[in-house]
Amino acid sequence: MPLVTIIGSGRVGTSAALFLMLKEICDIRLIDIVEGLPQGEALDLSHAAALLGKNVDITGSNDYKDMAGSDIVIVTAGLARKPGMTREELALENGKIVKSICEKILEYAPHSIVLMVTNPLDIMTYVALKVLKFPRHRVIGFSGTLDSARLRYYIAKKLGVSYQSVRGFVVGQHGEKMVPLLSATYVGGIPVTKLLSENDLKEISERTVKAGEEIVKLKKWSAYHAVGAGIAEVVESILKDRKDIHNFSALLEGEYGVKDVVAEVVGILGRRGIEKIIELEMTEDEKARFYEAVQWIKDLCEKVVKELGL
Ligand code: 2OP
Repeated sequence: MPLVTIIGSGRVGTSAALFLMLKEICDIRLIDIVEGLPQGEALDLSHAAALLGKNVDITGSNDYKDMAGSDIVIVTAGLARKPGMTREELALENGKIVKSICEKILEYAPHSIVLMVTNPLDIMTYVALKVLKFPRHRVIGFSGTLDSARLRYYIAKKLGVSYQSVRGFVVGQHGEKMVPLLSATYVGGIPVTKLLSENDLKEISERTVKAGEEIVKLKKWSAYHAVGAGIAEVVESILKDRKDIHNFSALLEGEYGVKDVVAEVVGILGRRGIEKIIELEMTEDEKARFYEAVQWIKDLCEKVVKELGL
């Protein structure tokens, strides 16, 4: 079985472990600095695996060296966003944590594919790339699978169709500056712009952008069920070399005319990680908002990278 290590045994890390265990596609190693926490979560999840007949080996550890041999390392460690706190305010604090974790990945799992989950996502993915110096196909920011699922959810509910009938994407930033790409969103092959009014689309778009914030306000904690489910989908696409089209954050190397910036885009995931980034057509308005997001990410990345001495 392939091995997937999850760093950070908080709600997101353990939710990802749960969804991965259900898929029965890899052994799972949980690593956290809090003594007993990853071991306890691993034992609890192992009991669930036994109950369900999922033959997956799940172990917990406080030692980073136990990530050795991992095919994929998922980084979820970091401070969670509290009510009223923006993703940006988290950038510096979590940047320090991500930097030290990536140094450990370099030491113990230098050939792995790294899936970044810690927020602010696009900034943390850039910090990881700077520390790891891996080719961009091995450093993926987990973001868009969640954002586009939220977009699809709101559209499906509005139209009364199944979730599977809706294909939609989100680009730009995983945060307030994300751009739901309504021009590239289809319901059963029909452009969503032909099925819903401008007002409905505006409302759906705004709810998608603010979904994370809405959940924080309601349950006083960041989302993690959908995050864990999305991570498991991404891992499955990679481990099974499925070449699925996903939404994720990646280092742009000239796509959309942008270089050296991590942004949310659409592309193909397979055993190499990012197999390809697909450039989608956008309306003038979507384009303007996409480049605004890119500029915003670039500016904050510059500050964070400088502060971290990278
Ligand atoms: C969200 O959008 C946790 O960033 C995550 O809910």
